[in-house]
Amino acid sequence: MTTPQPAASRCPAHAAARPSHPLPIYGPEFSADPHATYTLLRAQGPITPVEIAPGVWGYLTTTYRSALYLLRNTPNRFAKNPRHWQALVNGQVPPDSPALFMMQPRDNALWMDGAEHARLRHAITGSLVRVDTHALAATVTKIADQLIGTFASAGVCDLVGQYADPLPMLTMIEVFGSPPDIGQRIAIAIARLFDTDQDAAAANIDLEAACLALTHLKRNAPQPDVTSWLIEAGLTDEEMVQTILLVIGAATTPSSNLIMNSLQRIITDLRFAGSVHAGVQPVSDALDEVLWTDPPVSNYSPLYALGQQTFEGLVLQPGYPILVSFAAANGDPTLGIDPGSYAGNRGHLAFSAGVHACPAPDLARIIAETAIERALDRLPHLALATDQLVRRPGTFHSGFTALPVRFQPAAAPAPTGR
Ligand code: HEM
Repeated sequence: MTTPQPAASRCPAHAAARPSHPLPIYGPEFSADPHATYTLLRAQGPITPVEIAPGVWGYLTTTYRSALYLLRNTPNRFAKNPRHWQALVNGQVPPDSPALFMMQPRDNALWMDGAEHARLRHAITGSLVRVDTHALAATVTKIADQLIGTFASAGVCDLVGQYADPLPMLTMIEVFGSPPDIGQRIAIAIARLFDTDQDAAAANIDLEAACLALTHLKRNAPQPDVTSWLIEAGLTDEEMVQTILLVIGAATTPSSNLIMNSLQRIITDLRFAGSVHAGVQPVSDALDEVLWTDPPVSNYSPLYALGQQTFEGLVLQPGYPILVSFAAANGDPTLGIDPGSYAGNRGHLAFSAGVHACPAPDLARIIAETAIERALDRLPHLALATDQLVRRPGTFHSGFTALPVRFQPAAAPAPTGR
Protein backbone atom coordinates (compact mmCIF):
# COMPACT_ATOMS: atom_id res chain seq x y z
CA MET A 1 0.00 0.00 0.00
CA THR A 2 1.37 3.47 -0.82
CA THR A 3 1.21 6.41 1.53
CA PRO A 4 -1.64 8.69 0.43
CA GLN A 5 -0.15 11.88 -1.05
CA PRO A 6 -1.85 15.19 -0.27
CA ALA A 7 -3.51 17.05 -3.10
CA ALA A 8 -0.73 19.60 -3.31
CA SER A 9 -2.84 22.52 -4.47
CA ARG A 10 -5.04 22.08 -1.38
CA CYS A 11 -4.13 23.36 2.00
CA PRO A 12 -2.48 20.95 4.48
CA ALA A 13 -5.09 21.91 7.09
CA HIS A 14 -7.50 19.55 5.35
CA ALA A 15 -5.37 16.62 6.37
CA ALA A 16 -4.17 17.95 9.69
CA ALA A 17 -7.42 18.58 11.55
CA ARG A 18 -6.33 22.18 12.12
CA PRO A 19 -7.87 25.57 11.23
CA SER A 20 -9.76 25.25 7.98
CA HIS A 21 -8.83 28.72 6.72
CA PRO A 22 -5.08 29.14 7.18
CA LEU A 23 -3.97 32.73 7.52
CA PRO A 24 -2.07 34.37 4.67
CA ILE A 25 1.52 35.46 5.34
CA TYR A 26 1.70 37.83 2.39
CA GLY A 27 0.05 41.06 1.21
CA PRO A 28 -0.12 44.63 2.51
CA GLU A 29 -2.21 43.78 5.59
CA PHE A 30 0.30 41.12 6.72
CA SER A 31 3.31 43.32 5.96
CA ALA A 32 1.85 46.29 7.85
CA ASP A 33 1.82 44.27 11.11
CA PRO A 34 3.30 40.77 10.72
CA HIS A 35 3.47 40.23 14.48
CA ALA A 36 -0.34 40.44 14.71
CA THR A 37 -0.48 37.41 12.37
CA TYR A 38 2.31 35.60 14.24
CA THR A 39 0.40 36.07 17.51
CA LEU A 40 -2.78 34.59 16.00
CA LEU A 41 -0.83 31.69 14.49
CA ARG A 42 1.09 31.02 17.72
CA ALA A 43 -2.22 30.78 19.57
CA GLN A 44 -3.07 27.84 17.27
CA GLY A 45 0.20 26.02 18.01
CA PRO A 46 3.97 26.23 17.49
CA ILE A 47 3.62 25.14 13.86
CA THR A 48 0.50 25.76 11.78
CA PRO A 49 -0.80 25.65 8.20
CA VAL A 50 -0.54 28.98 6.35
CA GLU A 51 -1.04 30.40 2.88
CA ILE A 52 2.52 31.36 1.85
CA ALA A 53 1.51 33.24 -1.32
CA PRO A 54 -1.75 33.24 -3.27
CA GLY A 55 -2.61 29.57 -3.86
CA VAL A 56 0.61 28.29 -2.26
CA TRP A 57 0.11 26.30 0.94
CA GLY A 58 2.49 25.15 3.64
CA TYR A 59 3.30 25.43 7.33
CA LEU A 60 4.99 28.10 9.48
CA THR A 61 6.80 27.70 12.80
CA THR A 62 6.05 30.52 15.22
CA THR A 63 7.95 29.68 18.40
CA TYR A 64 11.68 29.89 19.11
CA ARG A 65 11.76 26.28 20.28
CA SER A 66 10.05 24.86 17.19
CA ALA A 67 12.27 26.91 14.85
CA LEU A 68 15.50 25.93 16.55
CA TYR A 69 14.56 22.27 16.84
CA LEU A 70 13.54 22.04 13.19
CA LEU A 71 16.69 23.80 11.96
CA ARG A 72 19.15 21.95 14.18
CA ASN A 73 17.95 18.49 14.97
CA THR A 74 16.06 17.01 12.07
CA PRO A 75 18.18 16.54 8.91
CA ASN A 76 17.09 12.89 8.74
CA ARG A 77 13.39 13.74 9.00
CA PHE A 78 13.15 17.00 7.03
CA ALA A 79 14.90 17.75 3.72
CA LYS A 80 15.90 21.01 2.08
CA ASN A 81 15.66 19.79 -1.50
CA PRO A 82 12.43 21.15 -3.08
CA ARG A 83 12.01 18.02 -5.20
CA HIS A 84 9.88 17.00 -2.19
CA TRP A 85 7.49 19.93 -2.87
CA GLN A 86 4.49 18.19 -4.39
CA ALA A 87 2.83 21.29 -5.90
CA LEU A 88 6.09 22.20 -7.63
CA VAL A 89 6.57 18.68 -8.99
CA ASN A 90 2.94 18.69 -10.21
CA GLY A 91 3.32 22.13 -11.87
CA GLN A 92 0.63 23.59 -9.58
CA VAL A 93 2.57 26.61 -8.28
CA PRO A 94 1.38 29.72 -10.18
CA PRO A 95 4.20 30.58 -12.63
CA ASP A 96 4.31 34.24 -11.49
CA SER A 97 4.24 33.36 -7.77
CA PRO A 98 6.86 35.10 -5.60
CA ALA A 99 7.07 31.77 -3.76
CA LEU A 100 8.40 30.17 -6.94
CA PHE A 101 11.14 32.79 -7.29
CA MET A 102 12.26 32.32 -3.68
CA MET A 103 11.71 28.58 -3.25
CA GLN A 104 12.37 26.82 -6.54
CA PRO A 105 15.61 24.85 -6.56
CA ARG A 106 18.89 25.81 -8.14
CA ASP A 107 21.90 23.52 -8.25
CA ASN A 108 23.61 25.15 -5.29
CA ALA A 109 24.29 24.52 -1.61
CA LEU A 110 21.14 26.25 -0.37
CA TRP A 111 18.89 23.57 -1.87
CA MET A 112 20.97 20.48 -1.17
CA ASP A 113 21.15 17.96 1.64
CA GLY A 114 23.80 15.69 3.13
CA ALA A 115 27.25 15.20 1.63
CA GLU A 116 26.64 17.34 -1.50
CA HIS A 117 25.56 20.28 0.66
CA ALA A 118 28.53 19.80 3.00
CA ARG A 119 31.01 19.77 0.08
CA LEU A 120 29.67 22.96 -1.55
CA ARG A 121 29.20 24.73 1.77
CA HIS A 122 32.78 23.88 2.75
CA ALA A 123 33.99 25.64 -0.43
CA ILE A 124 31.87 28.71 0.48
CA THR A 125 32.87 28.96 4.14
CA GLY A 126 36.53 28.27 3.27
CA SER A 127 36.47 31.19 0.81
CA LEU A 128 34.47 33.67 2.91
CA VAL A 129 36.75 33.16 5.91
CA ARG A 130 39.67 34.43 3.80
CA VAL A 131 37.98 37.82 3.24
CA ASP A 132 40.09 40.49 4.96
CA THR A 133 37.57 42.20 7.21
CA HIS A 134 39.56 45.46 7.42
CA ALA A 135 39.75 45.59 3.62
CA LEU A 136 36.01 44.86 3.48
CA ALA A 137 35.25 47.82 5.78
CA ALA A 138 37.47 50.03 3.60
CA THR A 139 35.63 48.83 0.46
CA VAL A 140 32.24 49.55 2.02
CA THR A 141 33.44 53.01 3.13
CA LYS A 142 34.62 53.80 -0.40
CA ILE A 143 31.31 52.65 -1.96
CA ALA A 144 29.27 54.47 0.70
CA ASP A 145 31.18 57.69 0.00
CA GLN A 146 30.63 57.33 -3.75
CA LEU A 147 26.87 56.82 -3.26
CA ILE A 148 26.57 59.64 -0.71
CA GLY A 149 28.52 61.91 -3.07
CA THR A 150 25.68 61.64 -5.60
CA PHE A 151 23.11 63.20 -3.23
CA ALA A 152 24.98 64.88 -0.32
CA SER A 153 24.55 68.41 -1.66
CA ALA A 154 20.81 67.92 -2.33
CA GLY A 155 19.80 67.78 1.35
CA VAL A 156 17.22 65.06 0.55
CA CYS A 157 17.39 61.47 -0.69
CA ASP A 158 15.73 58.08 -0.56
CA LEU A 159 18.02 56.00 1.66
CA VAL A 160 16.58 52.79 0.19
CA GLY A 161 16.86 53.37 -3.56
CA GLN A 162 19.97 55.59 -3.44
CA TYR A 163 21.90 53.88 -0.65
CA ALA A 164 20.78 50.69 1.12
CA ASP A 165 19.75 48.84 -2.05
CA PRO A 166 22.80 49.43 -4.27
CA LEU A 167 25.52 49.30 -1.57
CA PRO A 168 25.62 45.53 -0.81
CA MET A 169 25.53 44.59 -4.50
CA LEU A 170 28.43 46.95 -5.30
CA THR A 171 30.30 45.55 -2.30
CA MET A 172 29.83 41.92 -3.31
CA ILE A 173 31.00 42.66 -6.86
CA GLU A 174 34.29 43.90 -5.36
CA VAL A 175 34.52 40.99 -2.90
CA PHE A 176 34.27 38.65 -5.90
CA GLY A 177 37.00 40.63 -7.66
CA SER A 178 34.75 41.33 -10.62
CA PRO A 179 35.77 43.93 -13.18
CA PRO A 180 33.15 46.71 -13.54
CA ASP A 181 31.70 45.50 -16.87
CA ILE A 182 30.96 41.95 -15.64
CA GLY A 183 29.80 43.33 -12.29
CA GLN A 184 27.33 45.59 -14.03
CA ARG A 185 26.01 42.68 -16.09
CA ILE A 186 25.48 40.63 -12.90
CA ALA A 187 23.76 43.53 -11.08
CA ILE A 188 21.44 44.33 -14.01
CA ALA A 189 20.48 40.68 -14.56
CA ILE A 190 19.70 40.16 -10.85
CA ALA A 191 17.57 43.35 -10.84
CA ARG A 192 15.71 42.01 -13.91
CA LEU A 193 15.08 38.70 -12.13
CA PHE A 194 13.40 40.58 -9.27
CA ASP A 195 11.31 42.65 -11.70
CA THR A 196 8.26 40.55 -12.54
CA ASP A 197 7.65 42.55 -15.76
CA GLN A 198 10.92 41.28 -17.23
CA ASP A 199 11.58 38.02 -19.03
CA ALA A 200 13.03 35.89 -16.20
CA ALA A 201 14.41 33.21 -18.52
CA ALA A 202 16.36 35.78 -20.58
CA ALA A 203 17.65 37.48 -17.39
CA ASN A 204 18.76 34.10 -16.10
CA ILE A 205 20.73 33.35 -19.26
CA ASP A 206 22.49 36.74 -19.02
CA LEU A 207 23.23 36.21 -15.34
CA GLU A 208 24.73 32.76 -15.82
CA ALA A 209 26.80 33.97 -18.81
CA ALA A 210 28.22 36.85 -16.72
CA CYS A 211 29.11 34.51 -13.82
CA LEU A 212 30.78 32.11 -16.28
CA ALA A 213 32.77 34.98 -17.79
CA LEU A 214 33.96 35.92 -14.30
CA THR A 215 34.92 32.29 -13.60
CA HIS A 216 36.94 32.02 -16.84
CA LEU A 217 38.69 35.30 -16.08
CA LYS A 218 39.77 34.11 -12.62
CA ARG A 219 40.73 30.60 -13.76
CA ASN A 220 43.22 32.26 -16.12
CA ALA A 221 44.40 34.94 -13.71
CA PRO A 222 43.61 34.18 -10.04
CA GLN A 223 43.62 37.07 -7.59
CA PRO A 224 43.05 37.29 -3.82
CA ASP A 225 39.23 37.33 -4.15
CA VAL A 226 36.26 35.06 -3.42
CA THR A 227 35.86 33.90 -7.05
CA SER A 228 39.49 32.70 -7.18
CA TRP A 229 39.22 31.01 -3.76
CA LEU A 230 36.07 29.12 -4.82
CA ILE A 231 37.93 27.93 -7.95
CA GLU A 232 40.85 26.90 -5.73
CA ALA A 233 38.39 24.81 -3.67
CA GLY A 234 37.85 22.66 -6.76
CA LEU A 235 34.41 23.76 -8.04
CA THR A 236 33.53 23.03 -11.68
CA ASP A 237 32.41 25.83 -14.02
CA GLU A 238 28.74 24.90 -13.52
CA GLU A 239 29.18 24.79 -9.72
CA MET A 240 31.01 28.13 -9.86
CA VAL A 241 28.13 29.82 -11.72
CA GLN A 242 25.52 28.52 -9.28
CA THR A 243 27.65 29.30 -6.21
CA ILE A 244 28.41 32.86 -7.33
CA LEU A 245 24.67 33.37 -7.83
CA LEU A 246 23.89 31.91 -4.42
CA VAL A 247 26.41 33.95 -2.46
CA ILE A 248 25.69 37.26 -4.22
CA GLY A 249 21.91 36.64 -4.08
CA ALA A 250 22.01 35.58 -0.41
CA ALA A 251 24.19 38.53 0.59
CA THR A 252 22.50 41.47 -1.10
CA THR A 253 18.78 41.75 -0.21
CA PRO A 254 19.21 40.75 3.48
CA SER A 255 22.12 43.21 3.90
CA SER A 256 20.09 45.98 2.22
CA ASN A 257 17.20 45.25 4.56
CA LEU A 258 19.44 45.31 7.64
CA ILE A 259 20.88 48.68 6.60
CA MET A 260 17.48 50.28 5.90
CA ASN A 261 15.69 48.77 8.91
CA SER A 262 18.51 49.89 11.24
CA LEU A 263 18.71 53.38 9.74
CA GLN A 264 14.95 53.74 10.13
CA ARG A 265 15.22 52.66 13.80
CA ILE A 266 18.19 54.93 14.51
CA ILE A 267 16.54 57.97 12.91
CA THR A 268 13.09 57.54 14.44
CA ASP A 269 13.64 55.94 17.83
CA LEU A 270 14.55 58.53 20.45
CA ARG A 271 16.74 56.05 22.33
CA PHE A 272 19.00 55.83 19.28
CA ALA A 273 18.36 59.20 17.68
CA GLY A 274 19.39 60.83 20.92
CA SER A 275 22.44 58.69 21.54
CA VAL A 276 23.93 57.16 18.38
CA HIS A 277 24.18 60.56 16.69
CA ALA A 278 26.00 61.89 19.71
CA GLY A 279 28.30 58.89 19.63
CA VAL A 280 27.19 57.47 23.00
CA GLN A 281 25.43 54.25 22.01
CA PRO A 282 27.20 52.27 19.28
CA VAL A 283 25.51 51.40 16.00
CA SER A 284 26.11 47.72 16.81
CA ASP A 285 23.50 48.00 19.62
CA ALA A 286 20.94 49.21 17.07
CA LEU A 287 21.90 46.32 14.78
CA ASP A 288 21.38 43.78 17.57
CA GLU A 289 17.97 45.22 18.34
CA VAL A 290 16.88 45.17 14.69
CA LEU A 291 18.20 41.62 14.18
CA TRP A 292 15.96 40.59 17.09
CA THR A 293 12.85 42.65 16.40
CA ASP A 294 12.84 43.17 12.61
CA PRO A 295 15.06 40.48 11.05
CA PRO A 296 15.91 41.16 7.37
CA VAL A 297 14.85 37.63 6.36
CA SER A 298 11.57 37.23 8.21
CA ASN A 299 10.32 33.82 7.05
CA TYR A 300 12.37 31.33 5.06
CA SER A 301 14.47 28.16 5.20
CA PRO A 302 11.84 25.95 3.52
CA LEU A 303 12.02 22.32 4.64
CA TYR A 304 10.04 19.25 3.59
CA ALA A 305 8.90 16.37 5.82
CA LEU A 306 10.23 13.03 4.61
CA GLY A 307 7.01 11.08 5.09
CA GLN A 308 4.27 11.94 7.55
CA GLN A 309 5.77 13.38 10.74
CA THR A 310 4.34 14.37 14.08
CA PHE A 311 6.06 17.57 15.19
CA GLU A 312 5.11 19.59 18.28
CA GLY A 313 1.76 17.74 18.37
CA LEU A 314 0.81 18.42 14.74
CA VAL A 315 0.71 15.72 12.08
CA LEU A 316 2.68 17.26 9.21
CA GLN A 317 1.81 16.04 5.72
CA PRO A 318 4.70 15.38 3.35
CA GLY A 319 4.87 17.37 0.13
CA TYR A 320 4.29 20.82 1.68
CA PRO A 321 6.94 23.45 2.41
CA ILE A 322 7.52 24.22 6.08
CA LEU A 323 8.82 27.76 6.55
CA VAL A 324 10.67 28.87 9.64
CA SER A 325 9.59 32.25 10.93
CA PHE A 326 12.75 33.92 12.22
CA ALA A 327 10.70 37.02 13.05
CA ALA A 328 8.08 35.11 15.05
CA ALA A 329 10.74 33.01 16.82
CA ASN A 330 12.65 36.12 17.91
CA GLY A 331 9.41 37.69 19.17
CA ASP A 332 8.26 34.55 21.01
CA PRO A 333 6.96 35.87 24.37
CA THR A 334 8.04 32.69 26.20
CA LEU A 335 11.67 33.79 25.72
CA GLY A 336 10.90 36.51 28.25
CA ILE A 337 13.51 38.90 26.87
CA ASP A 338 13.39 42.39 28.28
CA PRO A 339 13.02 44.70 25.24
CA GLY A 340 15.78 46.89 26.64
CA SER A 341 18.35 44.09 26.70
CA TYR A 342 18.89 43.13 23.07
CA ALA A 343 22.27 44.87 22.80
CA GLY A 344 25.07 42.32 22.78
CA ASN A 345 22.62 39.39 22.78
CA ARG A 346 23.31 37.24 19.69
CA GLY A 347 20.80 34.50 20.52
CA HIS A 348 18.40 35.67 17.79
CA LEU A 349 17.68 33.51 14.74
CA ALA A 350 18.09 36.28 12.12
CA PHE A 351 20.97 34.31 10.56
CA SER A 352 19.11 30.99 10.98
CA ALA A 353 20.77 27.98 12.69
CA GLY A 354 21.88 24.45 11.93
CA VAL A 355 23.62 23.10 8.83
CA HIS A 356 22.18 25.78 6.48
CA ALA A 357 22.77 28.75 8.83
CA CYS A 358 24.15 31.87 7.20
CA PRO A 359 27.90 31.38 6.76
CA ALA A 360 28.62 35.12 6.86
CA PRO A 361 27.02 36.85 9.86
CA ASP A 362 30.28 38.64 10.66
CA LEU A 363 30.69 39.96 7.10
CA ALA A 364 27.02 41.01 7.09
CA ARG A 365 27.52 43.00 10.29
CA ILE A 366 30.65 44.70 8.94
CA ILE A 367 28.85 45.71 5.73
CA ALA A 368 25.79 47.03 7.58
CA GLU A 369 27.66 48.72 10.45
CA THR A 370 30.12 50.48 8.14
CA ALA A 371 27.35 51.63 5.79
CA ILE A 372 25.25 52.99 8.66
CA GLU A 373 28.14 54.74 10.39
CA ARG A 374 29.16 56.37 7.11
CA ALA A 375 25.62 57.65 6.47
CA LEU A 376 25.36 59.05 10.01
CA ASP A 377 28.79 60.72 9.71
CA ARG A 378 28.23 62.27 6.30
CA LEU A 379 24.55 63.28 6.58
CA PRO A 380 24.23 65.63 9.59
CA HIS A 381 20.80 66.17 11.20
CA LEU A 382 19.36 63.16 9.40
CA ALA A 383 15.56 63.06 9.76
CA LEU A 384 12.69 61.28 8.07
CA ALA A 385 11.00 63.38 5.39
CA THR A 386 7.69 61.51 5.67
CA ASP A 387 5.49 59.95 8.32
CA GLN A 388 4.10 57.48 5.78
CA LEU A 389 6.69 54.71 5.55
CA VAL A 390 5.47 51.69 3.58
CA ARG A 391 6.78 48.17 4.18
CA ARG A 392 7.70 46.05 1.19
CA PRO A 393 4.92 43.52 0.79
CA GLY A 394 5.95 39.89 0.82
CA THR A 395 6.42 36.77 2.84
CA PHE A 396 10.16 36.39 3.02
CA HIS A 397 11.86 39.74 3.54
CA SER A 398 11.37 42.70 5.84
CA GLY A 399 12.21 46.12 4.46
CA PHE A 400 10.76 49.42 3.28
CA THR A 401 9.74 50.53 -0.21
CA ALA A 402 11.49 53.87 0.40
CA LEU A 403 13.13 55.85 3.21
CA PRO A 404 12.84 59.53 2.22
CA VAL A 405 15.09 61.65 4.44
CA ARG A 406 16.35 65.19 4.74
CA PHE A 407 19.69 66.34 6.17
CA GLN A 408 22.02 69.28 6.19
CA PRO A 409 23.30 69.54 2.60
CA ALA A 410 27.04 69.35 2.05
CA ALA A 411 28.60 72.46 0.58
CA ALA A 412 28.94 72.13 -3.20
CA PRO A 413 32.56 71.33 -4.12
CA ALA A 414 34.59 74.46 -4.82
CA PRO A 415 34.98 75.15 -8.54
CA THR A 416 38.43 74.22 -9.81
CA GLY A 417 40.76 75.53 -12.56
CA ARG A 418 40.37 79.35 -12.13
C1 HEM B 1 22.02 40.93 7.21
C2 HEM B 1 22.50 40.14 6.30
C3 HEM B 1 22.17 38.67 6.19
C4 HEM B 1 21.15 37.94 6.75
C5 HEM B 1 20.05 38.43 7.68
C6 HEM B 1 21.30 36.58 6.29
C7 HEM B 1 20.46 35.54 6.64
C8 HEM B 1 20.56 34.25 6.15
C9 HEM B 1 19.63 33.20 6.45
C10 HEM B 1 18.40 33.33 7.35
C11 HEM B 1 20.05 32.08 5.79
C12 HEM B 1 19.38 30.70 5.83
C13 HEM B 1 18.60 30.48 4.55
C14 HEM B 1 17.95 29.12 4.50
O1 HEM B 1 18.25 28.24 5.31
O2 HEM B 1 17.12 28.89 3.61
C15 HEM B 1 21.25 32.44 5.06
C16 HEM B 1 21.96 31.58 4.27
C17 HEM B 1 23.04 31.96 3.52
N1 HEM B 1 23.68 33.19 3.54
FE1 HEM B 1 23.14 34.80 4.61
N2 HEM B 1 22.40 36.51 5.47
C18 HEM B 1 22.97 37.76 5.40
C19 HEM B 1 24.12 38.11 4.72
C20 HEM B 1 24.90 37.25 4.01
C21 HEM B 1 26.15 37.59 3.38
C22 HEM B 1 26.83 38.98 3.48
C23 HEM B 1 26.59 36.47 2.72
C24 HEM B 1 27.83 36.25 1.91
C25 HEM B 1 28.85 37.06 1.86
C26 HEM B 1 25.58 35.42 2.94
C27 HEM B 1 25.64 34.14 2.39
C28 HEM B 1 24.73 33.13 2.66
C29 HEM B 1 24.79 31.80 2.05
C30 HEM B 1 25.82 31.31 1.04
C31 HEM B 1 23.72 31.05 2.59
C32 HEM B 1 23.35 29.58 2.29
C33 HEM B 1 24.00 28.64 3.29
C34 HEM B 1 23.64 27.18 3.12
O3 HEM B 1 22.57 26.87 2.58
O4 HEM B 1 24.42 26.33 3.58
N3 HEM B 1 24.59 35.93 3.74
N4 HEM B 1 21.54 33.78 5.31
